[in-house]
Amino acid sequence: MVEINHHNILSLAKMRDHAYKGGGTDRIEAQHGRGKLTARERIDLLLDEGSFEEIDILKVGRGDLGSTSYPGDGVITGHGKINGREVFAFSQDFTVMGGSLGEAHSQKICKVMDLARRVGSPIIGLNDSGGARIQEGVDALAAYGEIFHRNVHASGVIPQISCMMGPCAGGAVYSPSITDFVFMVERTSYMFVTGPNVVKTVIHKDITAEELGGAGVHSEKSGVAHFVYPNDILCLRAVRQLINYLPSNNKQKAPFLDLNDPPERTDPTLDYLVPPNPNQSYDMNVLIYSILDGAEFLEVHSHFARNIICGFGRLGGQTIGLVANQPAVLAGVLDNDASFKAARFVRFCDAFNIPLICLVDVPGFMPGPEQEHGGIIRHGAKLLYAFTEASVPRITVIVRKAYGGAYLVMNSKHIHCDINYAWPTAEIAVLGPRGASEIIYRKEIDQAADPEAVLNAKMEQYRKHYVNPFVAAKRGYIDDVIFPSDTRHRLIRTLQFLESKGTTRPDRKHGNIPL
Ligand code: HXC
Repeated sequence: MVEINHHNILSLAKMRDHAYKGGGTDRIEAQHGRGKLTARERIDLLLDEGSFEEIDILKVGRGDLGSTSYPGDGVITGHGKINGREVFAFSQDFTVMGGSLGEAHSQKICKVMDLARRVGSPIIGLNDSGGARIQEGVDALAAYGEIFHRNVHASGVIPQISCMMGPCAGGAVYSPSITDFVFMVERTSYMFVTGPNVVKTVIHKDITAEELGGAGVHSEKSGVAHFVYPNDILCLRAVRQLINYLPSNNKQKAPFLDLNDPPERTDPTLDYLVPPNPNQSYDMNVLIYSILDGAEFLEVHSHFARNIICGFGRLGGQTIGLVANQPAVLAGVLDNDASFKAARFVRFCDAFNIPLICLVDVPGFMPGPEQEHGGIIRHGAKLLYAFTEASVPRITVIVRKAYGGAYLVMNSKHIHCDINYAWPTAEIAVLGPRGASEIIYRKEIDQAADPEAVLNAKMEQYRKHYVNPFVAAKRGYIDDVIFPSDTRHRLIRTLQFLESKGTTRPDRKHGNIPL
């Protein structure tokens, strides 16, 4: 009896050792040669030292249909901690059949997804995969379906994070695209539904993997990637940083973190942030970094639709989601990409109990056929819908411009934000002085001997009467006009009293956001 046990212990050690080698030394060297870490090295960097507990290390594929059977079947799964909080993770091993996804591989991922959901912890996927395992045919497709199904049902329940750390094709891109945040690594990760070879065959176009679906393309043009980093190490470190801002599930609040930044701290330089000339831009980041605890801000989608800024910070120790127009890029106008970017961010924050702070300086929606034909009506409606639907504490500060529909959309009082402050520099009106004067005084201007002089006089008159925060404050649409220097303190006090905000939701299956 003792001998049998001892034999099994030795066998277990051997089996584990075999699994640790993945696809073998040569393939591990090739992986390193491409500037990529192995699946196990990545897990070690992602999680607190020594906290990883592996599940299903001995699971193998059926090994039929011509595929070789490897222990672990090309993916490492389990759970561990990030700064002491439990997370679940899977890491695809490119050294085993290119990290391709077959039945057993998928079952392992599904098991940790199910466990993560059951216990209410985030799931983090480190993707490095050639997609559906060709030798497993329709079983591989079925295997992807099981993952997609779980991604959708975990959405809004636990945070789901995807790191793209290699070539990810076909099914390997759809699961990440359903998750909340996609990280990519420069030069080693690609995402496409159909790769360069298929592009060449179908539309006879030569294109490199980098041009088709590299980190640059997805972080700047398509908006698929929320974060991009130069290498695996920095990417995994950033995931840990993101997790620190988030609650583990939709029933919890984000962890409180005191950065020893006094809540009552004022910043007199903010009184001079907005330039006297309304056509002059300034950098909204100055305000963001000034008000947040410890000047710490994790920007999401920082290379995409830069006319709007979204990201996480803390106020008085509490995580907040921040949405701010950026007057330094396209004058902070709302366009298709900016609307989509902010809408998705707002919905994430709302799903995970993260209060929203909105800093407004928006001249309006971007005019022109390109935007109209591209669907600014339905994209702008996404943002309108997302803010209106959000039931977390919602606070708005109008810094400068807040014109027309864009004013309404940017978390205004009229779509039921909780508290709306304005700086004395705020301009709240239907149209800007020029546009408004040209319409309402058109006849007078046309008939004048000096039309330009009359227009200027009318603009001045309009500016005096309409372009300020006081008309809206008199109506109660603005709760208070605040000193810019005092913004941080006012926001923290407001968040404190909104903490116990209750929500009522209509009785329905779900709304129908204009997707
Ligand atoms: C089985 C695969 C594989 C796959 C790669 N391999 N992809 N095995 N199924 N899908 C294996 C290779 O045979 C090779 O095995 C090893 O992984 C490394 O692959 P290489 O081609 O040598 O590496 P590299 O040159 O870096 O190219 C990586 C790659 C390329 C770009 C990912 O392998 C590739 O294009 N693969 C196929 C991509 C694809 O079309 N997938 C199916 C998508 S359809 P050895 O033994 O030689 O080391 C799909 C359907 C789901 O996913 C749709 C749901 C919506």
